[in-house]
Amino acid sequence: MSKGIGIIGAGVMGADHARTLAVHVGGAELVAVSDADDTRAAAAARANGAWRHYSDGFALIEDPAVEAVLVASPDATHVGFVLACLKAGKPVLCEKPLAPTAGECLEVIEAERRLGRRMVQVGFMRRFDPAYGEMHDVVKQEALGRPLLLHCAHRNATAPGFFTPEMSITNAAVHEFDILRWLTGREIVAVTTLNCARKGAGPLRDPLMLLVELDGGILADVEVFMNAAYGYDVRTELVCESGTVDLGRPLPNMRRFAGGQLQSFPGDWRGRFGEAYRLQMQAWVAWLVGGEPRGADAWDGYAAMRVADAALQSLESGARIEVATAGPAVAAA
Ligand SMILES: NC(=O)c1ccc[n+]([C@@H]2O[C@H](COP(=O)([O-])OP(=O)(O)OC[C@H]3O[C@@H](n4cnc5c(N)ncnc54)[C@H](O)[C@@H]3O)[C@@H](O)[C@H]2O)c1
Repeated sequence: MSKGIGIIGAGVMGADHARTLAVHVGGAELVAVSDADDTRAAAAARANGAWRHYSDGFALIEDPAVEAVLVASPDATHVGFVLACLKAGKPVLCEKPLAPTAGECLEVIEAERRLGRRMVQVGFMRRFDPAYGEMHDVVKQEALGRPLLLHCAHRNATAPGFFTPEMSITNAAVHEFDILRWLTGREIVAVTTLNCARKGAGPLRDPLMLLVELDGGILADVEVFMNAAYGYDVRTELVCESGTVDLGRPLPNMRRFAGGQLQSFPGDWRGRFGEAYRLQMQAWVAWLVGGEPRGADAWDGYAAMRVADAALQSLESGARIEVATAGPAVAAA
């Protein structure tokens, strides 16, 4: 039996998820779309075989045809929608971040715990990217000895217009916090955020450099550059005791001409992580129809935002900030 999916938010990501669900994933069908802009909701619904559309996301959650919900609205709206899904007993795949602060993520963990079953998946889709998957296997199998260092870069061509200085951390760097935890299987214990003195950087204080310390002495440097101008480029090099792994970057063909060569970069994340979004959706639907849950859970969403909270404090103070450890009540979740 095909599961009825509702999507909240029909912007860049919501429309892309709607297409992925309609075209590439079996076992579920798009039945409704909601967006604050109802015209946009209607367009995304119709383009992908659904006819129900709402300007109010809470109305979509209450729709009996909607059995599970994908939240792809702006970050600050996530928690309200996720809590409403839990109240309605509907599983939810929430785009990252689960919430802009760790405190709000805790509300989700508490609500899910009260229900007594796992209901939430967080859209840290890099966990489904084949190149990151291979890097994960290298660490798990200790093929190159233990991990020592990671060098990471997260570059966008231009920051979206709605981006605030905090979002370089809460919206962009969170991907790095999650993938560092997932790759190494270690928690992040401290973070130092530095911004370079770039003239004309504007309010974003772009680019940022973060020094991330993980359990067991593993270190990572993370560049977040939201206005890198040339394209969307995500890099990770893993340095282990007896070798290194450089994250593959699927790129279009190389052109050679006039004594040079040219390789273009994707304009944004959809060109780089399309396969990861598809595999993430497929895994979520497989769980909905009776399989095992895969992917990041609410705890992972919370863990990434604990680091984000510390990174923001460090950006303000310039100091190295230790990441708050979870209290016993939370750790038991
Ligand atoms: N996983 C990833 O790689 C990735 C990449 C980009 C964005 N995201 C996340 O996806 C989410 C959406 O980002 P986007 O780039 O699509 O943004 P967007 O601005 O393109 O789209 C957001 C949409 O939400 C709608 N909206 C605003 N308030 C709403 C509300 N209260 N209820 C319903 N709809 C509302 C807007 O009208 C807009 O259509 C964000 O949380 C962002 O962090 C994730």
